[in-house]
Amino acid sequence: MLKRHPWIFSGAIDRIEGRPAPGEPIWVLSSRGEPLGMGCYSPSSQIRIRMLTFGEDGEIEPDLILYRLQKALRTRISMNIQEKSNAYRVVNSECDGLPGLIIDQYGDYVVCQFLTAGAEFFRQEIIEAIKKTLSPRGIWERSDARVREKEGLEKRCGPLYGDVPERVKIQEQGLYFWVDIKQGHKTGFYLDQRENRSIVRAFSRGKKVLNCFSYTGAFGIYSLKGGAREVINVDISPKALELLQANLKLNGLEGAPSYPLKKNVFHLLRELYAREENFDIIILDPPKFVSGKKNIQGGIRGYKELNYSAMRILRPGGLLFTFSCSGLIEEELFKSIVYSSALDAGKEVLVLKSLSQAMDHFYPMTFPEGKYLKGLMLRVI
Ligand SMILES: C[S@@+](CC[C@H](N)C(=O)[O-])C[C@H]1O[C@@H](n2cnc3c(N)ncnc32)[C@H](O)[C@@H]1O
Repeated sequence: MLKRHPWIFSGAIDRIEGRPAPGEPIWVLSSRGEPLGMGCYSPSSQIRIRMLTFGEDGEIEPDLILYRLQKALRTRISMNIQEKSNAYRVVNSECDGLPGLIIDQYGDYVVCQFLTAGAEFFRQEIIEAIKKTLSPRGIWERSDARVREKEGLEKRCGPLYGDVPERVKIQEQGLYFWVDIKQGHKTGFYLDQRENRSIVRAFSRGKKVLNCFSYTGAFGIYSLKGGAREVINVDISPKALELLQANLKLNGLEGAPSYPLKKNVFHLLRELYAREENFDIIILDPPKFVSGKKNIQGGIRGYKELNYSAMRILRPGGLLFTFSCSGLIEEELFKSIVYSSALDAGKEVLVLKSLSQAMDHFYPMTFPEGKYLKGLMLRVI
């Protein structure tokens, strides 16, 4: 607690006095009775309390939510994010001192996720604070992430304010994308890859690119705009590939050498090896393989196979952009998995750059768990 980490696990608690409601903020006292701050009570979760304030002066002030949201926005403004894109993360849960709350801005619209009992407790205040701070035309709730189960909360999606269209058009670094706020993955778009997409664009000229786990094609479209000779976009979701086609059109790339493939990437990589097909650039941005400690081993096997199979079909000197968004796979572990794939594939691998989540997804040094996306830009020889 003295290190200002926001989580208190159930095993660290001696007793709860009274009967706080789910999500209600309560005072936390040390074993000697000193006030340590206030946090929201989550009776169903192993993370039993998520701290909102620290220290003996930590009484929750009436406008805490509004102030924290304003501060979060000011931090993004200081990063000049709005000059790069009209879509960005405004509130990133614990990283912005608002545990369990995600707020993403997509042009005139806002999508939010209430992921914990505490975020639910402050629901109305949060909605009012969003209206006041971001003045959106509409707010849509996407509280359908699986973490809600651990908090004993049902999934909940729908309008919170105004009218929200089926698809919202956003601008990112000079490119345009349709975002399916209501049905798309997470809140609709992978904002955390913004900076990595720019790097891919810068290395694409004349290259044959395999964009694995393409979703709605953002990496592929950046590649084409960077002068790629050909881009194959692979995803298992037909809806994502449909939107990818619309995104090509939106960027004036209707006739571009871009090919959608609805396939399981694991199978496709093996088929491509058997057919002796090669690529200059491969992007591996899989979904989260590890959701809890019990499936770490399975996740490691998945990452290892993917990287091994991709390295085998890269031309000598080709680039591999490989990612993991599993928080439980730490950076060093991810590196060692990729290294072991290289050994098995008999490849020499140079680490050109370590990659991470975009700046609007920053994390405080007191909360290293906030870094979840890690990636490597590799030259494979
Ligand atoms: C993390 S997202 C990719 C985000 C994308 N790179 C972007 O920047 O928008 C993972 C994607 O993998 C897809 N997917 C999951 N399992 C798959 C599989 N075995 N084969 C192909 N696609 C898969 C999902 O449909 C999802 O679109």
